[in-house]
Amino acid sequence: MTKIICIANQKGGVGKTTTAVSLAHGLALRGKQVLLVDLDPQGQSATALGRSPESGVFYLLTMGASPQESSFVQSWVRSSGRDGLYLYPGDQQTMAAQTVLNAQNQPVSSIRTALKPFFKEGLHYIIFDTAPSVGGIQERAVWASDLVIVPTATEFLSAEGVGKVAYMMSILQQKKGWKGALLGILPTFYDAQTRESKITNAALKERFGESVLDPIHRATILRECAASGKTIFEYDEKCRSAEEYMSLTKQVLKF
Ligand SMILES: Nc1ncnc2c1ncn2[C@@H]1O[C@H](COP(=O)(O)OP(=O)(O)O)[C@@H](O)[C@H]1O
Ligand SMILES: [Mg+2]
Repeated sequence: MTKIICIANQKGGVGKTTTAVSLAHGLALRGKQVLLVDLDPQGQSATALGRSPESGVFYLLTMGASPQESSFVQSWVRSSGRDGLYLYPGDQQTMAAQTVLNAQNQPVSSIRTALKPFFKEGLHYIIFDTAPSVGGIQERAVWASDLVIVPTATEFLSAEGVGKVAYMMSILQQKKGWKGALLGILPTFYDAQTRESKITNAALKERFGESVLDPIHRATILRECAASGKTIFEYDEKCRSAEEYMSLTKQVLKF
């Protein structure tokens, strides 16, 4: 069975793309077949892997299910140049898909339906990198998912973003028949030297308990590797960030 994992938070700059790319590659390094779907119009999943943003996601979101349309949609899958890791690229056109989805009055299940043809290809995981701004797409992405990871910067006021996603998930569960669940809240930009990190991490634990995963520390190397189109495992597999993202990968494999 293909498991779909959505990386979500309405806030930008909290480590969603970094987490999506690192987890996707981590799973691939553990022998899984993984498709990373870039639902953010900024297309940064592609650039973080050293690839170019392309319009695939626009077609994934807006095309029908006829055999021709379905094979066109599948033709956008790109090799990432890494064993087991594939990219479904998006770009600015993803924003236009939002308008089309609304005009077509597509149900909340539309992304899950669009991905069905991918399920039988021996694919173990589909990972969504999402954007805060494209409302209806994020809701559909969460609905399509079996599990959701919510990265959140360990900074004051960051819990607000987590609260919004948690609220969205509860509405989807209660009113729209969503069957998925929260895998965990992932504290990011953690800095043990600052009171801010310690206080916000403790507050997250108080509010969300066991759902709070081990934090990812603030590390410039994560910025550097993204800028060079390499994943953290390629850039420096021995650094703390690589260890932390591999430990997240192992957590995910337990689910
Ligand atoms: N733990 C971290 N420490 C330092 N920089 C990070 C960390 N995680 C991500 N970054 C950097 O911060 C910026 C925002 O991260 P990104 O993953 O793009 O967030 P989002 O997708 O939520 O907008 C990027 O430049 C990224 O390389
Ligand atoms: Mg991003």
